[in-house]
Amino acid sequence: MKGLVLSGGKGTRLRPLTYTGPKQLVPVANKPVLFYALEDLVEAGVTEIGIVISPETGDQVKQTTGDGSQFGARITYILQAQPLGIAHGIKVAEEFLAGEPFILFLGDNFIRGGIVPQVEAFRTQAMDAQIILYEMQDPSSMGVAVLNSEGRVERVVEKPKQFISPFAVIGIYMFGASVFDAVNNIKPSARGELEITDTIQYLVDKGLNVRAHKLTDEWVDTGRIGDMLEANRLVLEVMEKKNEGTVENSVLEGRVVLEEGARVINSKIRGPAIIGKRTVVENAFVGPYTAIHHDCEIRNCEIEHSIVLENSCLEELHTRIADSLIGRNVNIHRAEGPTKTIRLMLGDFSQVGI
Ligand code: TTP
Repeated sequence: MKGLVLSGGKGTRLRPLTYTGPKQLVPVANKPVLFYALEDLVEAGVTEIGIVISPETGDQVKQTTGDGSQFGARITYILQAQPLGIAHGIKVAEEFLAGEPFILFLGDNFIRGGIVPQVEAFRTQAMDAQIILYEMQDPSSMGVAVLNSEGRVERVVEKPKQFISPFAVIGIYMFGASVFDAVNNIKPSARGELEITDTIQYLVDKGLNVRAHKLTDEWVDTGRIGDMLEANRLVLEVMEKKNEGTVENSVLEGRVVLEEGARVINSKIRGPAIIGKRTVVENAFVGPYTAIHHDCEIRNCEIEHSIVLENSCLEELHTRIADSLIGRNVNIHRAEGPTKTIRLMLGDFSQVGI
């Protein structure tokens, strides 16, 4: 069985971060969200993996992810010239997949408990496809599945206007070779994309055995800032504490991870939190559910429930930063000039709450 991970797309909902890097490389607890998908596949025994990339961000994905040896996998990169839909991602990978059954994993989806039982079920039970469902009170912004009394998928509807079922279809799917007939025959939707919901419906309409696995663990689609923070929280919550850095005159409470060369001076860190390699935290408070990536400086300020990407500097702020996603090489400091004045230089589509 092969794995296919989609790491192209536009990432419009995570602008401005996605102007300079793909959303699949935004770190969750200091590790690109894409890496969790690769680790889940390897854990389920799938080591032959194709990653679909875009012309804009493909090189960054390649550089960071490499040939797969760091995961115990073999990775092949497949270029999708335009983001024409998830089912189009399968189409461009047809040669790589070579008719084998495969697991399709959207590179921005995060599932805390891994995929071992689902893959096991797909391997051992006779089925043509398997989708994974997540029960939600209001799944109306997602693809939604209706099952029959034997648990077979009867219908999949994209963003249904009326409530049809509480089961949202998440971004991890398993297909046999019949899926190629589907992706080569469905037509683009109103938004011009080959839709995965149409692909699944095509298989159902052909009378094929499409099964569903109901997820009991946590799942997050990290397309938006709130979702990134949620995935970060889920990982930090179960991380073991570790100290590979140095601590001077400071208090570390609860699950705190200090990566190699991190320095904490005259500060308090209340876990769960992670401080990246060579990052300095000085005269500062870092509160729960915070991940500060490598080579950052956090001085004379307070931050909680946030993600800070690499090489950023937060200094001399007289307010607590919370619920924030701060990009790479960002500098936030106290401005000279009259108090109550804020001086900003923000990229397009930045969001600031004051
Ligand atoms: P989406 O989040 O549905 O789309 P997007 O990445 O374009 O983001 P946005 O809606 O914010 O503009 O994509 C789900 C995953 O599939 C994501 O990892 C990107 C990937 N993808 C591709 O690789 N190719 C595609 O053509 C599309 C639509 C998505």
